[in-house]
Amino acid sequence: MSVTVRFKVNGTSRSVTTDPQRRLLDVLREDLQLTGTKYGCGEGQCGACTVHLDGEPARSCLLPVTAADGRSVTTIEGLAHGADLHPVQEAFLEEGALQCGYCTSGMILAAAALVEREPDPTDEQIAAALNGHLCRCNGYLKIVKAVRRAVATTRAGRRG
Ligand code: FES
Ligand code: FES
Repeated sequence: MSVTVRFKVNGTSRSVTTDPQRRLLDVLREDLQLTGTKYGCGEGQCGACTVHLDGEPARSCLLPVTAADGRSVTTIEGLAHGADLHPVQEAFLEEGALQCGYCTSGMILAAAALVEREPDPTDEQIAAALNGHLCRCNGYLKIVKAVRRAVATTRAGRRG
């Protein structure tokens, strides 16, 4: 049996007719070619598959595609505004906060959600936002530095 799921992906209305048991992760990657969302563990343990669902981070390997019906999904491909990178993306580049890049889209989406809801996060809040996001290259120090830089530039932007 197939169902048709209608949702917004990166601001564009999409509909996909598919097996309702399929994971949102697989539909994004295989049907919509949004391969910036990564398959890591497939069990909710690594964070590589993180997207925003109605603005909140969600692990797309744990969600059936039907969970996105009528909702809004943002993937790493939709985080920038045209040529303007999101402040977290800029900060990752400036800090060199990636090596192989496999964890990066999930890390950036988790951090972007934090920066958007919390203008002045504590180190504990940053750690909590990145909790469960695994970097096999062990780039955590630079990743946390990048999040702090994004917070600072976002705050300066709000003031300016
Ligand atoms: S692939 Fe989803 S949490 Fe690891
Ligand atoms: S940069 Fe390689 S897994 Fe994080």
